[in-house]
Amino acid sequence: MIVAANWKMNPALDQASVLATALASQSFPKIKRILFAPHPYLVPMSVRLTSAGLEIGGQDCHFADHGAFTGDVSAAMLRDCGASLVLLGHSERRAAHGETSEIVAQKTTAAMAQNLDVMLCVGETKAERDDKKAEQVVIDQLQASIPKHAPPNRLIIAYEPVWAIGTGAVASPDDVAAMHNVIASVLAERYGANHAPSILYGGSVNADNAASLFSIPLVGGALVGGASLEAGAFAAICAAAQAANSLRVDL
Ligand code: 13P
Repeated sequence: MIVAANWKMNPALDQASVLATALASQSFPKIKRILFAPHPYLVPMSVRLTSAGLEIGGQDCHFADHGAFTGDVSAAMLRDCGASLVLLGHSERRAAHGETSEIVAQKTTAAMAQNLDVMLCVGETKAERDDKKAEQVVIDQLQASIPKHAPPNRLIIAYEPVWAIGTGAVASPDDVAAMHNVIASVLAERYGANHAPSILYGGSVNADNAASLFSIPLVGGALVGGASLEAGAFAAICAAAQAANSLRVDL
């Protein structure tokens, strides 16, 4: 099980420091914890948290190695600042920065070339779900965003329905299970069932709904936005993941 915090463009540096202290004091040895921190915080967070067992990731990278791209960062820069992975294709970047799946694929190739793991986000809008196009949209995003030669052991998929992000409207267990099945079959077709990457759910995950989401067999963890800014809520989600993990191992 993987629980990833996406801080997005939050919090202020002093609050980030308080959160880091809390994260470092919590211990969840049976799951993987990841923090996608704002780029200026990567160095302090990796210094403070890798020794506490967290993996640190950037929230985006450019597809070029270097050059005249004001405001952008390269995959190598993320790696040199202590990141071991990068979040790519988040719907907020697809919507606000015009990122197409083809651009996401280029970024994925660049990140993997620098030995970064990639957490790749896919998900449909409310209008696409209402139009019964959700599955096709997600299949198309997967096919176009995952480069041909991307090794499965460097890839994690995060299914984040856009309408569930930051709204409190979590997808129903049936909808999550159905979409994770669709994603799993796309990945199995490409990689074989035994090598398929993990699939996380994201979108209004909180301390109250985490256990029920983690009881869905193909849900390999969560990508958490708002609740990752509260140390207690994030710890509760990690505890739910660890409990689900133990249950799966027992089975
Ligand atoms: P929320 O958990 O705030 O809905 O955000 C989800 C998300 O976008 C994580 O990447």
